[in-house]
Amino acid sequence: MRIQDKIILITGGNAGIGLEMAKQLTKLGAKVIICGRNEATLASAAKQFDLDYIRCDVSLAYDQKLMVKALQARYERLDMLINNAGMMHKYAFVDDADTLTKVVEEIQVNAISPLSTTYHLLPMLKRSHDAAVVFVSSVLAYVPSPAAPIYSGTKSFIHHCAQTLRYQFKAYNIKVFELLPPATKTAMAVNFDSAKIPLMSVEKLVAEFIKGLQHDRFEIVAGSSKQVRLMSRLAPKFLFKQIVKSFN
Ligand SMILES: NC(=O)c1ccc[n+]([C@@H]2O[C@H](COP(=O)([O-])OP(=O)(O)OC[C@H]3O[C@@H](n4cnc5c(N)ncnc54)[C@H](OP(=O)(O)O)[C@@H]3O)[C@@H](O)[C@H]2O)c1
Repeated sequence: MRIQDKIILITGGNAGIGLEMAKQLTKLGAKVIICGRNEATLASAAKQFDLDYIRCDVSLAYDQKLMVKALQARYERLDMLINNAGMMHKYAFVDDADTLTKVVEEIQVNAISPLSTTYHLLPMLKRSHDAAVVFVSSVLAYVPSPAAPIYSGTKSFIHHCAQTLRYQFKAYNIKVFELLPPATKTAMAVNFDSAKIPLMSVEKLVAEFIKGLQHDRFEIVAGSSKQVRLMSRLAPKFLFKQIVKSFN
């Protein structure tokens, strides 16, 4: 799909992968709106990279409603929604003091919010002649990491939803893309052991993502996620053992 003149909302666009998407898509002529919880980083990114922003915690229904209202007031349509906002908690399910809070937070932000945001923005997306929804899942949709027990499950869930919604949205001319990044150098990966887990640069990841969008490759399996996908089909038990080793 063409990027120029598209109106694009990126959730979690004030940092990491989302911010890099905002920069590269703006360079290609899109009007990008970013959202996130932190007003200061939203405002500073917007000023620096010529973006629009709306403060919104996507896990809160009230914030989502206000974001949709603000978008409707500023734009007549939305061409692309990129569901990028995400969080990862690493914890031992049995021993952590806040296990259930973390479980609920991860499921809300990574699994439920992308679907509710998409649902609430469907009327604006339907007004576009060339609409798309993007889900950002993860390489961990192919193989779970024991270090992030619930995060892996949420990404696998989104991987399935992207496939079913791609099929259902065809009737409404809304394309559904999915980006499956490998471990990528952002704040989320700050505690990953880079000797064991090679980190992709965020610039390279986003360049590959945009190429995928432009060529209508609906499942964008970036960088080393391709090898992991192959291994998950050929030797899933061996792959899981490798993941366990790399996270120990
Ligand atoms: N980095 C990796 O290795 C990696 C690998 C595979 C997949 N991913 C996925 O890629 C996406 C982006 O991750 P990243 O690495 O760029 O992470 P990051 O640098 O930690 O950025 C996370 C972004 O999400 C926003 N966010 C978090 N919770 C939110 C909420 N409740 N409401 C609104 N915004 C929220 C944050 O903004 P605020 O703090 O202002 O809310 C921030 O902009 C995530 O879905 C992640 O799961 C990352």
